[in-house]
Amino acid sequence: MKKVKLGVLVSGRGSNLQAIIDNIESGSLSAELAVVISDQADAYSLERAKKHNISAVHVSAKDYTGKRDGYDALLVKELQKHNVELVVLAGFMRIITPTLLKAFPNRVMNIHPALLPAFPGLHVQKTALEHGAKFSGCTVHFVDEGMDTGPIIIQAVVPVLDNDTEDSLSARILKQEHKIYSRAIQLYAEGKLKVEGRRVLVTGGKTAGDEFLINP
Ligand code: GRF
Repeated sequence: MKKVKLGVLVSGRGSNLQAIIDNIESGSLSAELAVVISDQADAYSLERAKKHNISAVHVSAKDYTGKRDGYDALLVKELQKHNVELVVLAGFMRIITPTLLKAFPNRVMNIHPALLPAFPGLHVQKTALEHGAKFSGCTVHFVDEGMDTGPIIIQAVVPVLDNDTEDSLSARILKQEHKIYSRAIQLYAEGKLKVEGRRVLVTGGKTAGDEFLINP
């Protein structure tokens, strides 16, 4: 099967990047990591990429305060230089502008550690706990111009337990993130995702059943 060329944008530790690398190396994900780009020079993600002989690039945002479009134009140049087909945001702490989205229409994915549209933004595990939600989880979605608002591709549900802390809940959600991000990318690679308005239809997706979740 054709391997989809990925450009992964990161800012930090890169555990989702690592899961993608591992799934590619084990052969369960038909993709190739063309480039990993960080806006932070010291992001551990860059080390992870280098360890696997993947191009690791720091694109500094230093001269781009208040000029997000200008910064995104740099990203587009770097991504195109590496013939990237699908842009994967994995803990990238900047808001993407139309400059990037126009260059990669319906070809930018993000992962968010909550069940969107509930709890967009930052510190969402804490917010979910404080709200008293009985379920949280994670969402992979295509990126649009809003913050965490794009069409949803896949979600995993994680129960919130009475003794959960922000850390314990985040850790259980992260485990699922590592599974569903690669799964979403694989569906893309297989040409099974079709965006219709806000909905992402999946060829061979689930059929009607009696599945449900209750907590407690
Ligand atoms: C993850 O929780 C992801 O959902 C969010 O940022 C975090 C990145 O973690 N967008 P990592 O760098 O992949 O470990």
